[in-house]
Amino acid sequence: MESTAWLTDYDAAILPIRLCAFAPWRLGVKFFASDTMNKERKLIIAGNWKMNKTVAEALDLVRGLKLELANIKEVDVVVCPTFTALGALSKEILDSSLRLGAQNMSEHNFGAFTGEIAAGMLKEFSVRYVILGHSERRQYQKETDELISKKGLAAHAASLKPIVCVGETLAEREGGKTEQVLETQIKGSLAGFSKDQMPETVVAYEPVWAIGTGKTATTAQAQETHAFIRGLLTKMFDETVARKVRIQYGGSVKPSNARELMSQPDVDGALVGGASLEVRSFSDIIKNSI
Ligand code: PGA
Repeated sequence: MESTAWLTDYDAAILPIRLCAFAPWRLGVKFFASDTMNKERKLIIAGNWKMNKTVAEALDLVRGLKLELANIKEVDVVVCPTFTALGALSKEILDSSLRLGAQNMSEHNFGAFTGEIAAGMLKEFSVRYVILGHSERRQYQKETDELISKKGLAAHAASLKPIVCVGETLAEREGGKTEQVLETQIKGSLAGFSKDQMPETVVAYEPVWAIGTGKTATTAQAQETHAFIRGLLTKMFDETVARKVRIQYGGSVKPSNARELMSQPDVDGALVGGASLEVRSFSDIIKNSI
């Protein structure tokens, strides 16, 4: 009779050993995975390709990403190619969860603005996001907070989600001016945005000294600054709104630092430059973030 009991003496004796063998492993997976999977906001990781890639090269990259990222549902993945590649890529991403972003747009809807692109023209290529006020445009094209806010409002009017970039220079950080600079940029660049528009707005915190330099903000610096930005958004809008805004970190994000950065409670994704130009490194950043 004893042998048909649901738990034999032998089973009972080795049960603790079995539990020891399985439980930590199971719990371990849960603990490690929970850092970024239980985030309050869905992660958004965007590749800013800057002035790189011909149409053929852009297609190659996106085809590779489609294969690598076919099963990724936990992250909104956006690629931001040059304007000239948007047409080809808009067709290539149709059967995927990849989204398209542009790197800039005009604050005007049409007219005599040579060399500019309007929001409505981006929409023709299924563009969903647009990077605004990147530090390179602030530096080389002398874009101001006022202009960035006008572009942001034009983007929202066309149902494009702006990714509004802010960040301090090294001299500003070393001079203890980081918060002051960010406050001016955030208030100016988001001037006129409504509470309803904010959940559809992404803020990218990109310390200028970390862009393309290989230097990354420490996770503590990133979290502290993101929390400061969310606090500002609370003051400008309200807490409910601020909790819905996704704040990306940008500046030398790579596969090796993505997980730690993304595990911070106020870091809701990344804006990736150099490492977004290769299938391997960009897809590893995304996989390491979940
Ligand atoms: P990086 O660029 O990742 O090459 O530092 C980031 C950016 O400029 O958006």
